[in-house]
Amino acid sequence: AGSGKFFVGGNWKCNGTKDSLSKLVSDLNSATLEPDVDVVVAPPFVYIDQVKNSITDRIEISAQNSWVGKGGAFTGEISVEQLKDLGCKWVILGHSERRHIIGENDEFIGKKAAYALSEGLGVIACIGELLQEREAGKTFDVCFQQLKAFADAVSSWDNIVIAYEPVWVIGTGKVATPEQAQEVHAAVRDWLKKNFSVEVASKTRIIYGGSVNASNSAELAKKEDIDGFLVGGASLKGPEFATIINSVT
Ligand code: G3P
Repeated sequence: AGSGKFFVGGNWKCNGTKDSLSKLVSDLNSATLEPDVDVVVAPPFVYIDQVKNSITDRIEISAQNSWVGKGGAFTGEISVEQLKDLGCKWVILGHSERRHIIGENDEFIGKKAAYALSEGLGVIACIGELLQEREAGKTFDVCFQQLKAFADAVSSWDNIVIAYEPVWVIGTGKVATPEQAQEVHAAVRDWLKKNFSVEVASKTRIIYGGSVNASNSAELAKKEDIDGFLVGGASLKGPEFATIINSVT
């Protein structure tokens, strides 16, 4: 782990029911969590209100997406204003599932980030390469290009957490080795240093995502530039998510 406060997010994706999430929330409410870790969960939009109203204040709420500007005639979208109204503090943007399944591009994602930040939401900004990009030796190029799209759109890194999620390890059970993750995290930090400042590089948290679970989180957390996790599948199990949160000790 680096010098910033450890940050662990649970991305529940398109999972859960009223009942299953009520059980998950009660497991999280009764878990013992390391005090020195920022903990955030991202329920599906339709359950944000239920979760926010029942979860401990110790855990902040993130949305999994937001509309690119002010709300209005945008059928099926959810605005930043509405997310704030429900008590959300964060939004996940640029997740690979939205890039590669839904087809969001860098420019659109950058605009979303700029708007969310301008309205006071924190942004969990996701980047990461596909398997064929890694195999072609393009991991850094792809990550830097995605980072640049965020950088071009926003005016400050103060309220941004960067999530590096190699696409080939998401939901596959394959995990990048701690060394593979560390290599990219260090390169991202170096990119921030070169393109912004030593201060931005050291302050910005760079978290790792992709098949993180209770058995691999402690090893990953030891790496110098891994400042936390964005957890998918394992965040749907309260006790396991608690173990991941506590893995930074
Ligand atoms: O955003 C978290 C994520 O994409 C990782 O998912 O299920 O591999 O932990 P998972």
